[in-house]
Amino acid sequence: MGFPKGFLWGGATAANQYEGGYLSGGKGLAVADTITGGDGIHGIQRKIFLELPDGTKTVVGNREEVPAGAKAYVDPDVYYPSHVATDFYHHWKEDIELFAEMGFNVYRLSINWTRIYPNGDDEEPNEEGLQFYEDVFKECHKYGIEPLVTIYHFDCPLHLANEYDGWVSRHTVDAFEKYCRTIFTRYKGLVKYWLTINEININANFMMNGVHEHISNKQNAEQARWHLFVGSAKAVKIGHEVDPENYIGLMIAHGASYPYSCNPEDVMAEIENSHRRKWFYGDVQCRGYYPEYKLKEMERDGIVLKKEPGDDELLKEGVVDFYSFSYYSSSTFAAHPENIPGVEGNQERGLTNPYLSASEWGWIVDPVGLRINLNQIYDRYHLPMMVVENGLGALDTVEPDGSINDDYRIKYIHDHIVEMKKAVEIDGVDLFGYTPWGHIDIVSAGTGEMRKRYGFIYVDKDDDGNGDLHRSRKKSFYYIQKVYKSNGEDLDM
Ligand code: BG6
Repeated sequence: MGFPKGFLWGGATAANQYEGGYLSGGKGLAVADTITGGDGIHGIQRKIFLELPDGTKTVVGNREEVPAGAKAYVDPDVYYPSHVATDFYHHWKEDIELFAEMGFNVYRLSINWTRIYPNGDDEEPNEEGLQFYEDVFKECHKYGIEPLVTIYHFDCPLHLANEYDGWVSRHTVDAFEKYCRTIFTRYKGLVKYWLTINEININANFMMNGVHEHISNKQNAEQARWHLFVGSAKAVKIGHEVDPENYIGLMIAHGASYPYSCNPEDVMAEIENSHRRKWFYGDVQCRGYYPEYKLKEMERDGIVLKKEPGDDELLKEGVVDFYSFSYYSSSTFAAHPENIPGVEGNQERGLTNPYLSASEWGWIVDPVGLRINLNQIYDRYHLPMMVVENGLGALDTVEPDGSINDDYRIKYIHDHIVEMKKAVEIDGVDLFGYTPWGHIDIVSAGTGEMRKRYGFIYVDKDDDGNGDLHRSRKKSFYYIQKVYKSNGEDLDM
């Protein structure tokens, strides 16, 4: 009963939200480094400064507004949250020690492509960048922590975005292939667990992955998706070639989803949404080909993908070893949503659900949805699974004595672990790990805020960049420690 022996317990971060050192050690610029902070509670979006082909400048807050041919740049008078972030680059030893104290046996982190290839497509890799991650991985092993590495987490090199429109271009796939071969070769024996592309179902739509017009152009959007799949399949294939011990998974933003009512039209609306938003991406990466519903959709839209010889075979050869996903909330869908109020979510919007409440940022909280997900995913693919993101973004208060009593976060984590446990014990799904998101405070991807905190470890920094970056343990730190050290047996709050 309970979680299997050797279950992986840890936490998860992404380089562009955590590392800082944005130009240190030979790192180049990523699109993420050109995106400002926003204000999620008041609906103020992150912005990106752009230079247009005629030399004029503009600023946009929405990916759909990026004009053709625009190039993003860093404005020296503007504050960019990723430039220092919470400075893992200079605190990695101290931080990994804290992770070990919490009882981690896995730590999910991403490699910043521009630390390895500053422009994305350079001739030679940057040795200082390679050495940085080697040191980090060795430090993890010192404490018995397995690194779980995301190869690509929202950090397209700026050069590839500006000059090639990011993933719209095959050039980016070729550069990615070289980057993958470099890191698999260098970290052979140090890293066994890998994820190819973070939230691949959101990536093609995300401002951080190419700053040009591809979103408003369906053909380009589908081409970018195709290239992400080809890139992911190449990563799996190269990873297995370099070391057959490598265990490589996909990563999908997989919230639960429900029909708004038992009206069959609403049920169908939910099926269509889930195909489009989630299953399509799992179907391609687990089965190795485009599902029929997607082929029909592209046929209707007149989309013809540009493929290279061998691409279709590659998709089959590059199917993943396991399914990983982020889980924060659930969404509800109706055939006629016009008069139903909407709610926010992890990069997506759905309708209100009268049975559930939401976080301060409007994300629906739904622990049972996690169990539903684990069942649905396992039924569909029968692959081992890992929950690689989950958590509550909330405002924390530092008490006069320095303590942070985040009982709301403890409750969120507790309730989700309880449902994971039911999925394992009662439903028999094959779940092998859990890495809650942002276990140390980092910059929010969606809003660029610091005050939207997920951590069990507090970092002293605010939305304007003030703070001395010192780390302190929140109440949830001790809760996690107890849960992890008991392999999920002691869940009492
Ligand atoms: C996922 C991403 O979308 O959700 C993370 O993989 C992100 O990068 C996380 O940080 C939480 O979202 P947010 O917008 O609250 O940071």
